Amino acid sequence: MRIDSTAVHAGREDLAALGVHVPPIDLSSTYPLADLESGGAAYETLATGGRGEHAQSLVYQRLWNPNVDRFERGLATLEGCEQAVAFASGMAALSATLVACVAAGTPHVVAVRPLYGGTDHVLATGLLGTEVTWATADTVAAALTPRTGLVIVETPANPTLDLVDIAAIVRQAGRVPVMVDNTFATPVLQQPRRQGAALVLHSATKFIGGHGDLLGGVVAADREWAARLRQVRALTGALLYPLAAYELHRGLQTLPVRVRAQQDRALALAHWLAQHPAVDRVHYPAMPGADPRGLVGTQMAGPGAVLAVGLRGGLAAAADLVQRTRLVTHAVSLGGVDTLVQHPASLTHRPVAAEAKPHADLLRISVGLEDVRDLVADFEQAFASMGALAGAR
Ligand SMILES: Cc1ncc(COP(=O)(O)O)c(C=O)c1O
Repeated sequence: MRIDSTAVHAGREDLAALGVHVPPIDLSSTYPLADLESGGAAYETLATGGRGEHAQSLVYQRLWNPNVDRFERGLATLEGCEQAVAFASGMAALSATLVACVAAGTPHVVAVRPLYGGTDHVLATGLLGTEVTWATADTVAAALTPRTGLVIVETPANPTLDLVDIAAIVRQAGRVPVMVDNTFATPVLQQPRRQGAALVLHSATKFIGGHGDLLGGVVAADREWAARLRQVRALTGALLYPLAAYELHRGLQTLPVRVRAQQDRALALAHWLAQHPAVDRVHYPAMPGADPRGLVGTQMAGPGAVLAVGLRGGLAAAADLVQRTRLVTHAVSLGGVDTLVQHPASLTHRPVAAEAKPHADLLRISVGLEDVRDLVADFEQAFASMGALAGAR
């Protein structure tokens, strides 16, 4: 099946047999046990990374939940991975992966900057027992050590929209698994498993949820990695809430149409912004010079719906502009149906070390589903009301 059809149907294979059309929501925190022996066996299976269909009872929500399982099956299918493991947030998904590396005795992580500020921060602090070597896309091989358990990349990267050639990273990494944060692209535009990535991470909070009303995270991987991650999840407790899993699973059904429609608007807005006198530069994979390796059209089906602009007026203009938009909301997060603007250096990338912090003149824009003429009109009135500040250096 093609991706639009898969998105609508994946993870729903059991519904007809249940006699329902949409997934029933199971909010049970605990489950009845038939007897000590089968209950204990089920506990053993689930607490060590096993799957619920092999257990006689689901025992306890932290160990297994049917709505979480359906969302995971849907997402894994879209990513072309064997399995997926969902978490309470993107950061919980990342944390579980890092804990699994530490537990395996390979705590060294090679990370290609730029990355989301939270990811950068958890690696820089070593909070979870990892050690990090920062790399560029060309220096991954040189950064590996016998203790390296993971290579992390984001493409397109938050917030500069830099593109990374995933296959080239995988070649450099050799035996070390590569994790691609696919939050910006979504499986609609990019399936990193095809380029050999072992793990695909999403902040499901963003495009997959798509409506700004939940937090979630997920890692798609092979069955061995998934079992390790389920065990970490069972022991550390960051399970996705079942209602959020229901919403995320529903979100998958409209993901292809939302991503393509948001991308159309982003493309038009990027071109309009690029010619505006207040704008110094536009960061967007479709802009001239942004994709020297030709990854859009090969690795990625399109440039996506997030962009960033550097303003000629620098930090002062950025601070001013976010106060002047009316339709566009000044808020962090991205990937939802409404357009958001935020200043990465002050907010999402605030904890990032000075040498890797985004430029002070940079604003990130997540483009939603509004009519692009209304988005243009909003930015136009915001720039116009800034007057001289919009163009000042
Ligand atoms: C690319 C990327 N990865 C991971 C995260 C973390 O996800 P969450 O906020 O769901 O914990 C974010 C959040 O902004 C993100 O943008």
